Formats: sequence, structure tokens, C-alpha cells
Amino acid sequence: MKRFLQQLLGAAALACLAQAAVAAPTYVGVKVCTKCHDVHGESWATTSHAKAFDSLKANTKAEEKKKAKLDPAKDYTKDKDCVGCHSTGFGKAGGYALGKDPGGPEKLGSVGCEACHGPGSDYREEHGTAEKKLLRSQQSTPRKLLVGKGQNFDYEKACATCHLNFQGSPLKGAKAPFTPFTPAVDAKYKFEFDKAVRTKALHEHYKLKGSFEGEPIPKVRAEFQKTAKDIPE
Ligand code: HEC
Ligand code: HEC
Ligand code: HEC
Ligand code: HEC
Repeated sequence: MKRFLQQLLGAAALACLAQAAVAAPTYVGVKVCTKCHDVHGESWATTSHAKAFDSLKANTKAEEKKKAKLDPAKDYTKDKDCVGCHSTGFGKAGGYALGKDPGGPEKLGSVGCEACHGPGSDYREEHGTAEKKLLRSQQSTPRKLLVGKGQNFDYEKACATCHLNFQGSPLKGAKAPFTPFTPAVDAKYKFEFDKAVRTKALHEHYKLKGSFEGEPIPKVRAEFQKTAKDIPE
């Protein structure tokens, strides 16, 4: 009886795992997002996040690398201890993998949209659907729906996985590979979310029309929307 129960439970756990594996959202790349969000794409392309992969090439940022005890002559673009934070979805389904063209059509060799907003395979369609619903019947869609589809609204947490991942950082559960650029190397690498989120490291902000409503509303949303630009026709 005990054995039978164990087997049954084992089978149930496996079924759950299989389902989770099928259901887990995957990375789709910048191009998919910018089909609709072209203005965000143009603005993002000017940020250092969009060019993060270049910093791993030999003979780039030589002074900075020396200071962090890295070898400026070395090519770090295929080093798994570096690529994870200088690309999107590294090692995850649909994400960047060693040897992929970093500038390829999906632009996964950069800190792209999904590094902050979450893997987009499932929520991207909901965005279009919600807009149609708003236009057709002036009804907003609960934002909660997007959370279940993999969209991230906790930006502070997303930033921390890259910016606060070093030994002795305030991030609980920090684990190797660590960033070599820590406040101990230079005070300018100290990461403070409230300051950082308001810099040009982020794309410009554009007015939302209200396709989605309700929690979770990112804590910087109201402030940014006040000065957000209109999306050009
Ligand atoms: C089919 C077109 C389409 C695609 C593809 C798309 N979006 Fe959207 N997205 C929209 C529309 C429309 C809205 C609602 C805008 C509004 O309310 O004014 C939206 C809203 C958003 C929002 C704000 C949601 C909120 O809280 O109200 C974010 C963030 C976002 N998109 C990011 C992305 C990212 C990242 C991708 C790529 C994975 C993506 N979108 C793909 C059309 C799209
Ligand atoms: C996937 C990892 C990753 C995530 C997530 C991430 N960043 Fe970054 N960020 C980087 C890397 C790598 C650089 C350095 C880019 C370069 O110059 O190579 C950087 C650079 C920056 C800089 C310095 C820009 C400059 O030009 O001096 C700021 C500020 C910043 N990020 C803020 C943020 C904020 C705020 C968030 C969250 C909303 C965030 N980052 C999320 C990896 C990340
Ligand atoms: C845990 C995430 C993480 C890992 C792993 C990582 N980096 Fe970075 N890297 C960052 C972040 C975040 C920044 C931005 C720091 C800032 O400007 O505050 C950055 C910045 C840089 C810069 C630009 C520094 C500057 O001042 O412009 C270089 C160059 C760089 N990283 C190279 C590397 C190399 C080489 C490796 C592997 C040995 C590596 N990184 C591993 C997160 C990481
Ligand atoms: C480094 C992190 C980061 C990256 C990369 C990033 N975003 Fe954002 N995004 C944010 C933050 C923070 C906000 C502001 C908070 C809010 O209102 O949701 C935001 C807001 C938005 C919004 C809501 C309206 C607005 O303009 O504020 C949309 C739509 C959006 N991003 C789309 C994109 C797309 C498309 C890309 C890629 C081309 C992208 N984001 C890349 C962090 C990021």
C-alpha cells in the first residue's frame, strides 16, 4: 500500500513537472516586442544595456577591466562567467546561448526588454488582445492576468539579479558567477535602485492608454507616467 502511494505520488509529481515544463514562458527577443513598441525599442537601443555584450570583447573598456583585475586582451564573449548578465535569458528556454549571434534578429546578446519585463512568449499576445478590447468596448483587462503569463512587475528584483550579485552584497542568495564591478572596485558601481531607475540606462517613458488596470502597479509607474511622452502617430 505504502509503495503504491509512493508510486502514485511520484507519478503526480512528474505530471506536475511535465506540465510546468510545457507551461513555463520562454524568451522571444527584442524584435518581437518592438513590432508593437517601436518607440521603446529606439530609445532602448541608445542605452548601455543594449550594448552590454560589446563590453565583453577583447580590447574594450580596457581601463575598467584592469581596475577590476580582468585581462583587457582577453575575449570574454564566450565565457559563461560573464555572459549571463550581459545578455537576456542566458541558459533558459529561448534565451541567449553561447555561440549564438549576439546581435542576431532577436538581439538576445544584450540586456533586452525581457531582462526586466520577463520572458514574453505568453504575455505578448495578451497585450494586443487587451488593446483591441479597449478600443472595441472601452474595457480594461486586469493586469493580474499578465503575472500568470510571466510578465515581471518587480523591477527592483530584476535589476538586483545582475547589479547586486557579488560577494558581500545586500542581495540575499547572491551566488557565482558574480559581477567583477563592485563598490569595492569603484564607489560608482554602488547600485541604488531609486537612483538607477531614473537614469538614461532606461528607455524613455511613453503614455499608457489604460489597456490594463489594477495590481500589480509598479511603484514608479505613476511618477513616470506624469512626464511620459505621447506615442507619435
Ligand atoms: C501585439 C503588440 C504587442 C506586442 C508583441 C507586445 N506588446 Fe507590450 N503592450 C502592447 C499594448 C497595446 C499595450 C497596452 C498599452 C496601453 O495600455 O496603452 C502593452 C503594454 C505593455 C506594458 C505595460 C503593461 C501595463 O502594466 O499596463 C509593458 C511593460 C509591455 N507592454 C512590454 C512588452 C514587452 C517586453 C514585449 C515583448 C516580450 C511586448 N510588450 C510585446 C502591445 C504589444
Ligand atoms: C541581465 C542583467 C541586467 C539587468 C536585469 C539590469 N541590468 Fe543594468 N546593467 C547591466 C550591465 C551588464 C550593465 C553594463 C553595460 C555595459 O556598459 O556593458 C548595466 C548598466 C546599468 C547602468 C549604468 C549605465 C551607464 O551608462 O552608466 C545603470 C544605471 C543600470 N544598469 C540600471 C539598471 C536598472 C535600474 C535595472 C532594473 C530596472 C537594470 N539595470 C537591470 C546588466 C543588467
Ligand atoms: C552578476 C552579473 C554580472 C556578471 C557575472 C558579469 N558582469 Fe559585467 N557588469 C555587470 C553589471 C551590473 C555592470 C554595470 C556596473 C555599473 O555600471 O554599475 C557590468 C559592467 C561591466 C563592464 C563595464 C564597466 C564600466 O565601468 O563601464 C565590463 C567591461 C564588464 N562588466 C565585463 C564583465 C566581464 C569580463 C565579466 C566576466 C569575467 C563580467 N562582466 C561578468 C554584471 C555582471
Ligand atoms: C533595464 C530594465 C528595462 C529594460 C531593458 C526595458 N524596460 Fe521597459 N520599463 C522598465 C521600467 C523600470 C519601466 C517603468 C515602470 C513602469 O511603468 O512599468 C518600464 C516601462 C515600460 C513600458 C510602460 C510604459 C512606459 O513607457 O513607461 C513599456 C511599454 C515598456 N517598458 C516596454 C519595453 C520594451 C519594448 C523594451 C525593449 C525594447 C523595454 N521595455 C526594455 C524597465 C526596462
